Amino acid sequence: MNANTRAETLAISGHDNEDLNTSNNPTLNDVIDARLSRRGLFKTAFSSAGGAVLGSIGLTACGGGDDLVAPTVGSTLPVTVTLGNVALGFASVPKTLADTVTIAAGYTAKVIYALGDPLAASTPAFKNDGTDTDYDNRAGDHHDGMEYFGLNAAGTARDATSVTRGLLAMNHEALTDQFLHANGVTARPRPAAESDKEIPAHGISVVEVRKNAAGSFDYQQISNFNRRITPLTEMQINGVASGHVQMRSKFSTNGTKCRGTINNCGTGYTPWGTYLSGEENWAGYFTRSATDNTPRGGATANSVISLLRNGRAAGAASRHGWETSGTADKYARWDISHIGTSSDGSDDYRNELNTFGYMVEVDPYDKNVAIRKRTTLGRFAHESGVFGITTVGKPLAVYMGDDSRGEYIFKYVSNATWVAADANPGSRVATGDKYLDSGKLYVAKFNADGTGQWIELSMSNPLIANATNYKFADNGDVAMNSRLAGDAVGATRMDRPEWCAVSPVSGEIYYTLTNNANRKLAPTSTQQGLDATNPRSYSDSFAGGVAGAAQNVNGHILRMRENASEPAAIAFTWDVYLFGAQADADPALVNLSSLTNDQDFSSPDGLWFSPTTGLVFIQTDDGAYTDVTNCMMLIGKPGQVGDGTTPTLAYTRADGTTLNVQTRMGAKPTVNSLRRFLVGPADCEITGCCETPDGKTLFINIQHPGEAISKANVTDPTKYLSHWPANAGYGAGGAATARPRSATIVITKNDGGLIGS
Ligand code: FEO
Ligand code: CA
Ligand code: CA
Ligand code: CA
Repeated sequence: MNANTRAETLAISGHDNEDLNTSNNPTLNDVIDARLSRRGLFKTAFSSAGGAVLGSIGLTACGGGDDLVAPTVGSTLPVTVTLGNVALGFASVPKTLADTVTIAAGYTAKVIYALGDPLAASTPAFKNDGTDTDYDNRAGDHHDGMEYFGLNAAGTARDATSVTRGLLAMNHEALTDQFLHANGVTARPRPAAESDKEIPAHGISVVEVRKNAAGSFDYQQISNFNRRITPLTEMQINGVASGHVQMRSKFSTNGTKCRGTINNCGTGYTPWGTYLSGEENWAGYFTRSATDNTPRGGATANSVISLLRNGRAAGAASRHGWETSGTADKYARWDISHIGTSSDGSDDYRNELNTFGYMVEVDPYDKNVAIRKRTTLGRFAHESGVFGITTVGKPLAVYMGDDSRGEYIFKYVSNATWVAADANPGSRVATGDKYLDSGKLYVAKFNADGTGQWIELSMSNPLIANATNYKFADNGDVAMNSRLAGDAVGATRMDRPEWCAVSPVSGEIYYTLTNNANRKLAPTSTQQGLDATNPRSYSDSFAGGVAGAAQNVNGHILRMRENASEPAAIAFTWDVYLFGAQADADPALVNLSSLTNDQDFSSPDGLWFSPTTGLVFIQTDDGAYTDVTNCMMLIGKPGQVGDGTTPTLAYTRADGTTLNVQTRMGAKPTVNSLRRFLVGPADCEITGCCETPDGKTLFINIQHPGEAISKANVTDPTKYLSHWPANAGYGAGGAATARPRSATIVITKNDGGLIGS
């Protein structure tokens, strides 16, 4: 979701901006009050007051827009593709506030699968007027992370190489709830009929897509593979915390099963062809009574410490109030108060929160195998789960991030070593059991000198076994409380780790650190000071409703190289690939990467490497630069760790003294290594990225166009901030009055070439 705007205005939610890490894990610098600023403050002397055209005078060695290569429509296509050797061939798209998808010349974007689209023959077309029901058989809301799974020509089985027929598996993270109902959201107690739409509009879609006679992809309303997975779908708890006493509930008295998945954000594509879905801001959907600490044993009880660290203090209200819709179990389970008389929670839902917060593995080709929650990969606000390069005979590494302010970066390393035949196994879920249920979980600690360590989170680490912040019972407890484990070992508090991605060219691991309103020159117990990996704190007049407050406004992209490129390495090197910034910002403290108007961006979130070309796709979910441009997608051709410089940021304190923070920064991008490819419609974020295995068809998601209007409950349709995709000719509703919808778009190059070329 649009983190900057939503989380800071909705007090009841457990969103990705919450400040739950009160550890004293180290930061490098000391105290100063931040000075207030307006957007203009950090412009260079060359900029105009209106922030209009600036070019790149004095700021950069990069070329401006005039130097860009013209689009190569009709050009001769490369005969062979060499990974990492494809040049960017499109002209950069200008920043825009237009309520449409603006894409590079020579490319076409088409809407194929939007909120409410039916997934069964008997489900009526989506009217988009708030009267539609049956979301168990429709596309959910807030399309997010997404992966492509090839199908054979007959449509009967997996063919990973297919470029004409496949399945898209995608997450439906959250709701723009006003638009699900005819007259907006009814106050609590919530009518059951409204909750019964909102609950299944979350979860996951598996939907078949196929090339039509004209060579263009469409979604298929009728397919044996179409499927919705919702917060009520039964699942299996696998791995180190399966059957744990803290997993017991009225629904599964032995703690081996659970019900549903929610707030699914980033994704992963396993080497054996299944889908990983990260549960992100799950905690906010649950409520706790104001007196709930008492029956649990008071403020020092382990379960209370765990609930606090994961965002559920006593008295916390739920995001949508579904528990107020009736006494039926499907509503009652959203209240996690200790209300039963059992000693272990097997007669209530006091432990229900422990069944959320995992990487969830789905076999998109098979509805009949149990969906697995992979607890060994840890429990936090998961984004993507991305595999390092696989090598026969070596373990598999899965990289993950925890998206809240000041949270951590994690790695999982399998005990099993990779066997080539497992790329096409007889049983995909059994292969998942083999690689994802047994392994080690690590958390990252970054050093200022460009090195870092992966610290093991298990009872064999004395820092865990002897932890004083929380008494860990066993390795299941450690996995369920990964954040507390990270606190215990002194992990580095990061600027909201969103997606990660692994370069198929270098094997290096990239993480978006989207922004951090709590990165301060004046750290406190709940606010982080500056360090080498999170070195910026500055002001922006439009930074997510906290105008003027110094913070990491625009985010950055970190990258890491494992020592000796080993997946099981316990040490790495790092630098910052790119610092987000507006092009006219202060080059000494803000626009460190010297981004030009053809490249400047804010709040990187989605991140993905094409396995075909090796190009990187950067997507934004921003609330800071949205007075100038809608969210966007850029395409880049990065170098590698250590190819840049080690600048020192000299901050001026209020008392006139300076605070110096040295960071490590990759080579500044050029016009040939980073360009803006697409800008989305109004008030959306860009997310989800996958392609057909020839690299010629790209699928991305437009999430929550026009979402801010929902918060204001504006009822005049002409005042909605967005009317996309109806205004692009997709679906019901007038172009000037339609309710906006999250949707999947398919992108092709008009000459049939590689995306980005
Ligand atoms: Fe779902 Fe952190 O974005
Ligand atoms: Ca989001
Ligand atoms: Ca995200
Ligand atoms: Ca985000």
